[in-house]
Amino acid sequence: MNPIILGIESSCDDTSAAIIKGDIILSNVVAGQKVHEEYGGVVPELASRAHQQNIIPVVHKAMKDAGVKSGDVSAVAFTRGPGLMGSLLVGTSFAKGFALALDIPLIEVNHLQAHVLAHFIQEPDQKHEVPEFPFLCLLVSGGNSQIVLVHDFLHMEIIGQTIDDAAGEAFDKCAKVIGLPYPGGPLIDKLAQEGDPEAFEFSKPRIANFDYSFSGLKTSFLYFLRDNVKKDPDFIERHKNDLCASLQKTIVDILMDKLIAAAKKTGIKEIALAGGVSANSGLRQAFMEGEEKYGWNIYIPKFGYTTDNAAMIAITGLFKYQKKEFVGQEVAPFARMAL
Ligand code: KG4
Repeated sequence: MNPIILGIESSCDDTSAAIIKGDIILSNVVAGQKVHEEYGGVVPELASRAHQQNIIPVVHKAMKDAGVKSGDVSAVAFTRGPGLMGSLLVGTSFAKGFALALDIPLIEVNHLQAHVLAHFIQEPDQKHEVPEFPFLCLLVSGGNSQIVLVHDFLHMEIIGQTIDDAAGEAFDKCAKVIGLPYPGGPLIDKLAQEGDPEAFEFSKPRIANFDYSFSGLKTSFLYFLRDNVKKDPDFIERHKNDLCASLQKTIVDILMDKLIAAAKKTGIKEIALAGGVSANSGLRQAFMEGEEKYGWNIYIPKFGYTTDNAAMIAITGLFKYQKKEFVGQEVAPFARMAL
């Protein structure tokens, strides 16, 4: 019998619950939080309160959509970290209460590991191909930019990571400078479609190994605009699309240069993409070019599994369930949990 796992995700500003049976996803409900929009970023205190309001209705809906009753659930898996402490506390406390009430195993999940394992979520109607081990995963989100060497489901190694800002942060912060609302990444992507990626050139960092840095790009973007706006107050408005296209190209080039180098060094051709920034059309395009140019097999998850979601928590829960990796009621959230 395939186990039925309830996954709970509440690490940042999305409250999510999902039901998975074996590796087949039966439901994945995500409640976003509009409350942060007017502040230009996530306000931790408000996020915790919204999770508190959302968690029960979200779990109810996930069970209803899946046609599953609480008595059918084999185990509950929850995001232990990394994330915002107040937000993590809501999901952790819910999961502990649920497991205690039903006397079922409790499984802690590392949110970053879950982003990587999202590739293994299968849909009820059609099975898709999954990466073969070992594979490389470029994990790019609002909080992380890492190249992960994935040896096995639960054995991963970071071989490169950002030493300052994450790629998503670079998108969002630069978007703010040109007057776009938070989160600016998707808007930059949209405007970039109409712009010339070669219009402007921004500096790329020179960092050793497979590590990344994005704070210098943000500063050079800011100074470039400041200098040009002095000469022409309408500079940003008149060149918005070109600015977005050139910025996007620079970020994608930075990400891809290191990934290509890592693939060459390790000899690995199974290459996966994960995290919220994987929605970026320029990055997806660059991955497809990698397939042609370097003979890679590329894996890009469905959009709904790239942003924060509980389906990825549930699939990770499944792999831990199979190994009986359970935790006790004394478990507490871990805001700075590393991969
Ligand atoms: O993984 P994720 O949902 O959660 C966090 O880590 O917070 O990633 C969100 C990040 C944000 O920085 C957002 O701007 C970025 O992913 N993002 C994008 C696109 N869609 C989302 N960045 C560039 N292009 C996109 N299409």
